[in-house]
Amino acid sequence: MNILLLGSGGREHALAWKISQSPKVRNIFVAPGNAGTSLLATNLNFVSSDFEAVKAAVVQNKISMVVAGAEEPIVNGIADFFENDDFLKHIPIIAPNKRAAQLEGSKDFAKKFMMRHNIPTARYLSVNQENIDDGIEFLKTLQPPFVLKADGLAAGKGVLILNDFEQTVDQLQQMLDGKFGAASQKVVIEEFLNGIECSFFVITDGKNYKILPEAKDYKRIGEKDTGLNTGGMGAVSPVSFVDNIFLQKIENQIIKPTIKGLIDENIKYKGFIFFGLINVNGNPYVIEYNVRLGDPETEVVMLRLKSDIVELFEGVANENLDEKEIEILSQYAVTVMLVSGGYPQNYQTDKEIIGLDKVEGSIIFHAGTKEKDGKTITSGGRVIAVSSYGTTKNAALELSYRNAKIIDFDKKYFRQDIGFDLE
Ligand code: AMP
Ligand code: GLY
Repeated sequence: MNILLLGSGGREHALAWKISQSPKVRNIFVAPGNAGTSLLATNLNFVSSDFEAVKAAVVQNKISMVVAGAEEPIVNGIADFFENDDFLKHIPIIAPNKRAAQLEGSKDFAKKFMMRHNIPTARYLSVNQENIDDGIEFLKTLQPPFVLKADGLAAGKGVLILNDFEQTVDQLQQMLDGKFGAASQKVVIEEFLNGIECSFFVITDGKNYKILPEAKDYKRIGEKDTGLNTGGMGAVSPVSFVDNIFLQKIENQIIKPTIKGLIDENIKYKGFIFFGLINVNGNPYVIEYNVRLGDPETEVVMLRLKSDIVELFEGVANENLDEKEIEILSQYAVTVMLVSGGYPQNYQTDKEIIGLDKVEGSIIFHAGTKEKDGKTITSGGRVIAVSSYGTTKNAALELSYRNAKIIDFDKKYFRQDIGFDLE
């Protein structure tokens, strides 16, 4: 079969890599893709939010399955677009519909959903211009630091964690006044949870689910988790503090009630659910839901997934995921992200990347790259994810770091402490 994958980052390169290992697949197309995906797929030159272009590509390339990697097309309703189109409704799409995507697209929706289904999460209050006074009263019941979240998607920038009460009230007002545009017309005020974060993923057909390997994402730009938040500077899997007892709690208190909640509310969910969790004294709480896989988590999760991912996708499409096996490798997988100096703020692009042909023992996933005049050049803040296997975490890290040094471009930066234990 021919598969079309939507997106352009390291997550999509890792998905394309895994899909390419399936004996069921003849051709892979990625829209828009990057220099890395072009090595194992055909890149198509349109953005995945252009649904008419997606349709044209499906027809032209005889696509029999579409997989959405990034959140934009999902939150914008690509699954609904397929369902409402006489031709596309026969083409399976691995993406939850718009209603389901509110779990990521609206923090207020996600919080209310968790309340309805008794899923552990931080105490909160949603406020808008009308009830800002209630918000201030609620803040008085909390200990600093204070957490303010824009309700809508704000390109990963919509969460503020502040120590000072007055400053929090001021920021709350600024958010409601449009600091993050329409995304912060509503703000979720949350209790701060003190613990260690990890990412959990399931794939679901709307009734059945399979748990994918968990991962720990290193989100801050600086070593020892300091400095600005980024999209993610590296990841490891498995995660040291996720033992069987913790896993059981996650499955029983979070995963099962989420799937059952979706069914009870008649929300058809077909795709990946990403649970951003925090471990507070051995108990898991949901920090956020995402309706897609994580980046850079996918760059380790795909390494540890032994099963044919296309079989799992077919299980999602045919709603018989319960009949599919999921096998996970016991090896460690790690990834180290090479970024452009200045990221996550201002950085330059169009820098030539050298040394990719000298890499040994790691799997390279391109994040922000493109091809120009026969050269591979940088085109984003996060540039290359260097993923490796190992029988221990350190063995895998050693390989990734060796290759992280071999690959080079002007103002390359990477964290040297990916994999360190915060606990
Ligand atoms: P989110 O966009 O909801 O994932 O929030 C971004 C980051 O803010 C998370 O990855 C956490 O590090 C932090 N964060 C969000 N909510 C809380 C909370 N209630 N307590 C502690 N940290 C939080
Ligand atoms: N690495 C976090 C995310 O993909 O949202």
